Amino acid sequence: MADIVITEFMDEEAVRGLAKDFEVLYEPDLPDRLPDLLQLVADCRGLIVRNRTQVRAALLDAAARLRVVGRLGVGLDNIDLDACAARSIPVIPATGANEPTVAEYVIAAIILLLRGSTFHCTPEVLAGGWPRMACRGRDAMGRRLGLVGFGRIAREVAGRASALNMRVAAYDPYVSAGDEAWSRGVERAELGRLLADSDVVSVHVPLTPETRHLLGADALARMKPGALLVNAARGGIVDEHALADALRSGRLGGAVLDVFESEPLPAGSHLVGVPNLVLTPHVAGYTEEANRRQGEIIATGVRRILAG
Ligand SMILES: NC(=O)c1ccc[n+]([C@@H]2O[C@H](COP(=O)([O-])OP(=O)(O)OC[C@H]3O[C@@H](n4cnc5c(N)ncnc54)[C@H](O)[C@@H]3O)[C@@H](O)[C@H]2O)c1
Repeated sequence: MADIVITEFMDEEAVRGLAKDFEVLYEPDLPDRLPDLLQLVADCRGLIVRNRTQVRAALLDAAARLRVVGRLGVGLDNIDLDACAARSIPVIPATGANEPTVAEYVIAAIILLLRGSTFHCTPEVLAGGWPRMACRGRDAMGRRLGLVGFGRIAREVAGRASALNMRVAAYDPYVSAGDEAWSRGVERAELGRLLADSDVVSVHVPLTPETRHLLGADALARMKPGALLVNAARGGIVDEHALADALRSGRLGGAVLDVFESEPLPAGSHLVGVPNLVLTPHVAGYTEEANRRQGEIIATGVRRILAG
């Protein structure tokens, strides 16, 4: 039986490196095969997951010898941290691997929302049309960006948005007013004012009982008419039904969602036909480089614990 079980995709070079020293089972479709997963972890000391594997009582009970959990990413909402702590099982996130990657996604999403029509006119251009009026976009420069949460990713976004000459504010009651993070031209704001003032709102908090539906109907109603929304944090923070209503009514001007309350988003979901909505399959932090960095960080961390 395997010493390390890897249940979701991981950089292949990192997997090969671990396999030199440990018995490794790498089956990236295991979240879809729960009975197999519960059997295969019986002897493992190391478990490596992304966000689809639920590391909770059932899995932890099945893995009696488990000594470490590696998370190929940073959100830990799929892991019962208290249960791991109770068994002294460290949980290692890939901190530092994909913050710049998510930040690049957010900047791309903002520009896509502002200039979207500009990039959607290929058929007309090829057909000999010249739809310049319909392709008029909007500048990022001078627009107000509101960040909900001001942790690692939000700070990376803030730096890039400032370079575009956007005006940046953030809401994060857990970052004290004296924190030097505010010294780089980011205004500290209350949530209500942030929502009311921002042309674009981007979400960067973890999913917790406190942040579930933080951006529900009431909060969305406080946003500027025509404002734009990006959520590359976690599904469940934005109320998808309320967002769909706000986009359908034209109250909001557009949104990009990378994360959903239920992933994968079921076919024929409530988001079908919602205007000015761009969806991606939880890939904001997923590039070749970020995948490599995550693999290295987690392989090193898991190896260190198992060799110790
Ligand atoms: N889409 C993706 O591929 C992807 C990739 C990486 C991370 N993420 C998600 O991005 C989010 C942010 O990641 P990070 O690395 O910046 O985390 P982080 O821990 O560095 O920052 C999170 C910030 O949220 C703040 N916060 C917590 N609760 C809050 C609340 N109720 N109101 C306001 N602020 C609150 C914290 O104080 C902290 O500063 C996480 O949800 C993570 O899961 C998504």
